[in-house]
Amino acid sequence: MTDRIPLLIDTDPGVDDALALLMAFNDPRHELVGLTIAAGNVGLKHTVANALKLCEVAGVEVPVFAGAAAPLLHPSPDAGYVHGQDGFGDVGYEPARRQVEAEHAALAILRLSHEHAGKLLLVALGPLTNIALALKLDPTLPERVARFVVMGGAVTCRGNITPAAEFNIYFDPEAAHIVFEAFERIELADWEAVIAHGFLHDDVVQWLQADSDRARFYERISEKTRLWSADRRGAHWHAADALAMAFALEPEGALEVLDRALAIELEGQHGRGATIVDWRGEGGAPARVAILMRYDQERFQGLIRGALAAV
Ligand code: BDR
Ligand code: CA
Repeated sequence: MTDRIPLLIDTDPGVDDALALLMAFNDPRHELVGLTIAAGNVGLKHTVANALKLCEVAGVEVPVFAGAAAPLLHPSPDAGYVHGQDGFGDVGYEPARRQVEAEHAALAILRLSHEHAGKLLLVALGPLTNIALALKLDPTLPERVARFVVMGGAVTCRGNITPAAEFNIYFDPEAAHIVFEAFERIELADWEAVIAHGFLHDDVVQWLQADSDRARFYERISEKTRLWSADRRGAHWHAADALAMAFALEPEGALEVLDRALAIELEGQHGRGATIVDWRGEGGAPARVAILMRYDQERFQGLIRGALAAV
């Protein structure tokens, strides 16, 4: 019997997903019980292959479950232009030897929620398609989840994929709607918090010199997106999923969290996929989303450095 907190991560790796996963691999207080994989940053074939490869590089034996290959209703463009067409910087890595599990991700989420009922920390780093499917199969899922941390949204509608919407929510807004309606409490690290918690490129380059297979692999797969980011966003690099993972693993590092009601916009020429926050509490909906506003930057960077240096 272990007293570590069971951790289940739904993810679409993705370069920043990979950094978040390395942080989870390195955390002594949590026991990683599975990775469920969504399409998002790139297609499912690549996100599954990337998850398997990262586990292999890190020497981590966690089961990987493939999930939905597309959003629930409407096709959506991926983010291969940011992460590389294979999601891991197109470095041509040798595929992992290990295989994906036979069980579907949505079923694995439900099974693991039963096995770790009342204790499970669920972290979503990609589009919410798998979790929405799990909820449709079994609406009692939230009763068994102790904490649910999501990377997604742009809480004042300063998006990154459209002017108003953030990528994970925009990729599958219907799934996000189902998920945000179902859970009594969601802890949210949104894109605007990510922008407020960047790292200097020079620091990142230095961290990536760590003498570990993890750092060497991460240096390779992240190079393309770091160059893209330096070109577009200037001196700071942003790792969205890493901030959500810091919030999940060490919530005591959160310096400001605001509870608000949040709704997903499903329609509109400009607004589809936007996260509409009732900042003034006027709408009467319960304030069920705990929005991360500020996180201890030193602690955040320490978690990343530790994850890269781990062997
Ligand atoms: C989110 O979108 C993806 O591209 C990243 O992996 C992250 O989960 C940021 O908007
Ligand atoms: Ca992601």
